[in-house]
Amino acid sequence: MINKFKLILSLIAWQGRKKAIVLLIMIILMAILDTIGIASIMPFVAVLSNPDMIYDNKYLFSGYIFFNNFGLVSSKQYIFILGILVFILVIISIIFRALASFIQTRFSLTLEHTIATQLFRNYISQPFSWFFKKNSADLTKNIISEVNLIILYGVTPVINIFAQGTVTFGIVILLVIADTNLALSIGGILGIIYATTYILIGGPLIRIGKQRFINNEARFRVLNEALSATREVKIFNLKENFINRYSGHAKLIAKYQALGDITGLAPRFVLEALLFGGMLSTVLYLMTKSGNLVDALPVISLYAFAGYRLLPAIQSLYLSFAQIKFSTSSLEMISVDLSSLLPKNSNLLEFSNHKIIKFRNEIILDDISFKYPGTKISSVKNISLKIPFRSSIGFKGVTGSGKTTIIDIITGLLSPDTGTLKVDGQVIDDKNLVEWQNLIGYVPQQIYLSDTSLASNIAFGLEEKNIDLNAVEKAARLAKLHNFVINELPDGYMTLIGENGTRLSGGQRQRIAIARALYRQPKVLIFDEATSSLDSETENAVMEAVQSLRKSITLIQISHRISTLKECDTIYSVENGKILFNDS
Ligand SMILES: Nc1ncnc2c1ncn2[C@@H]1O[C@H](COP(=O)(O)OP(=O)(O)OP(=O)(O)O)[C@@H](O)[C@H]1O
Ligand SMILES: [Mg+2]
Repeated sequence: MINKFKLILSLIAWQGRKKAIVLLIMIILMAILDTIGIASIMPFVAVLSNPDMIYDNKYLFSGYIFFNNFGLVSSKQYIFILGILVFILVIISIIFRALASFIQTRFSLTLEHTIATQLFRNYISQPFSWFFKKNSADLTKNIISEVNLIILYGVTPVINIFAQGTVTFGIVILLVIADTNLALSIGGILGIIYATTYILIGGPLIRIGKQRFINNEARFRVLNEALSATREVKIFNLKENFINRYSGHAKLIAKYQALGDITGLAPRFVLEALLFGGMLSTVLYLMTKSGNLVDALPVISLYAFAGYRLLPAIQSLYLSFAQIKFSTSSLEMISVDLSSLLPKNSNLLEFSNHKIIKFRNEIILDDISFKYPGTKISSVKNISLKIPFRSSIGFKGVTGSGKTTIIDIITGLLSPDTGTLKVDGQVIDDKNLVEWQNLIGYVPQQIYLSDTSLASNIAFGLEEKNIDLNAVEKAARLAKLHNFVINELPDGYMTLIGENGTRLSGGQRQRIAIARALYRQPKVLIFDEATSSLDSETENAVMEAVQSLRKSITLIQISHRISTLKECDTIYSVENGKILFNDS
């Protein structure tokens, strides 16, 4: 439990020390006020049951004298004033409690946003090769669903334990002062009930939490698979299959979540039964002890009042401990991802030591080899080549020979195991990678289109208001897309194209990807099978337009079709990760 507390406190630290301290102070103040509010009931009831006390007790008497100065006459009026004072105190403590719970809720929800954003930042900052081992549905699930769970079942309970723990502590002290034996015996009984239940359910709760975690992962994956492959799902008639898989996991999650929640609530019902009997026996005990009801009344009312506040507090303490157990799996996983995947700080000072990359001369691959993690043979072996500025080069080779891998090394997505990538003599590394990539326009083999307007897809990743529509149109014209947009799309560049371009043909999607690469006005333009879906007439037209940019652009092309590469200055033939020969 202490470990989990540490983990949760380190999560809370993300929100900043100041806010956490404000919250802590609020919680402690709330506890003190609560205790005072409850304590104040005792003298009030004492006076009520025995008005002579006003004269016997020196504090009550000095209060009486004080109010006498303002024209107070009878002891009845004094009791009335005392009643009002108690009421005001209780109201203040309730208002304070409402305020504290408001601050608590806001703290937790803001923390959820902070942690989820940080987790997203951690994931998206990982090197390209990190994603090979990851399932995107798992990452989405962690950011959306697991962070929410650890806030609800990890962070909130810990804050709650602080809050309710302090209140409980205050009230228990009060009860011990009022009647030590009684307090200790009631405390003992309650303690034993809760401790036994907690010990019994602790292990099962962790297991239940883990099952929820596993099924939640499976549920997200099934949805992701089915919804991103609707064409296959329909043709292969897999609809029922996917529905059943989803429903199976979702049902289990409902079951485990319910089990977790019920285990947390269970002792409350046992307690409610015990409570009634307990109240009766406490009253009887106090009566026999003090001999008459009047003397017993102050302590009885204290207990009634304390019980009204204490029992929910104890129940909530227990529930919080149970919830933390339930969240164990998610908590451990998210904590690891938060701390071990922190993006490296790119040191700005070191930046200035680098010459700015302009790319005016050449790209050099010097004896580069690369092996994908977890594979036996290298996908790229001892490749050395030179790509002069404003040249046009092509890679051809059978499928799986390593062409895309070479491109990924040139763009810096993959860093080579041995050998170096140099641009104008500068080695490309962590510090100048972003700068290098800013010069690159890239049309990947697998295109991703977003479910936004055509213009947003061409100016990919930019907010609507930052899109330069003239540049969009210019890029579209070069990609031979403009006529299609004007003549066939209902809203022109503002037409929504559907998720991953479902409303477009393969060739149209490819041309959007080409326009997207051109929008950035790159110095290096890379086409990885970028024209494979175009008919040869359109392909020729696109390539002619691209060739017209040759004054400023270096072109790197991959194609299975030798005809596509006909304008290249040099064609490299790739086989088994090696460059065999070049046709210049
Ligand atoms: N993420 C990866 N993890 C492990 N192996 C990979 C990974 N990506 C590619 N490979 C392997 O590396 C080799 C080269 O792949 P690459 O994608 O570079 O081929 P390619 O020449 O572009 O093929 P294609 O013409 O089919 O696109 C292949 O054998 C492939 O199986
Ligand atoms: Mg490829």
